[in-house]
Amino acid sequence: MRKNIVAGNWKMNNDAKETKSLLKELKKGLKKAKLNNTKVIVAPSFINLKLAVKQTKKAPIKVAAQNMHAAHSGAFTGEISASMLKSIAVNTVILGHSERRAYFGETDEILKAKVDSALEQNMKIIFCFGEELKDRQADQHFSVVESQINNVLFHLPETAWKRIVLAYEPVWAIGTGETATPEQAQEIHAFVRGIIEKQYSVTVANQTSILYGGSVKPTNAKEIFANPDVDGGLIGGAALKASDFLEIIAAI
Ligand code: 13P
Repeated sequence: MRKNIVAGNWKMNNDAKETKSLLKELKKGLKKAKLNNTKVIVAPSFINLKLAVKQTKKAPIKVAAQNMHAAHSGAFTGEISASMLKSIAVNTVILGHSERRAYFGETDEILKAKVDSALEQNMKIIFCFGEELKDRQADQHFSVVESQINNVLFHLPETAWKRIVLAYEPVWAIGTGETATPEQAQEIHAFVRGIIEKQYSVTVANQTSILYGGSVKPTNAKEIFANPDVDGGLIGGAALKASDFLEIIAAI
């Protein structure tokens, strides 16, 4: 059975003190939570990863990075590699976020290299994809999503898919307060599961968790997560407040 996952992408928020106090509140809240088949992940900024790993050692929370460089090491000032993340026990990385694509010029080609590098280090990947508003208005959302996944992931062998989680994040729904309707989310998630089945097998398609991201809040999480092909969420703004994030986890 595939896992349900609720992941908090903290983006460029929370200094060390804030990271500590948010994690403290989350740990406290999760003590009472019934997690069943649900995995909880948080992705603080690079600089706070080490303390987050330390603080969550005994908690049901995994720590992920928000990005990494494709190279193992070298003259790439300001960058962080997969092996560096692994060396501090960060085994999961978010790749392909639309903010990385839009503000930092990350292309499918760059992302493919990052995916390969993360997998070489046996890391798990949360791969984000999603169309822009103009694509949806032009009725191109299916083809955009298909090409993002095809260009970055479909060269991988079937065995690599044990390490891949997908996150559908329509760009027009990120940080805008506008959410895809449960029907729009389900439609894309089912479509994506279908293309994975066609490329690989029904087993890979059924084992791959596909998360939804884009203005998920305590008020809308339940109806989004209720869809058969939505296996949890990648949460931005609402992951910064412990009570909201805990409510979203409880909604699955
Ligand atoms: P918001 O939940 O703030 O819309 O952000 C979603 C997101 O980008 C998660 O990666």
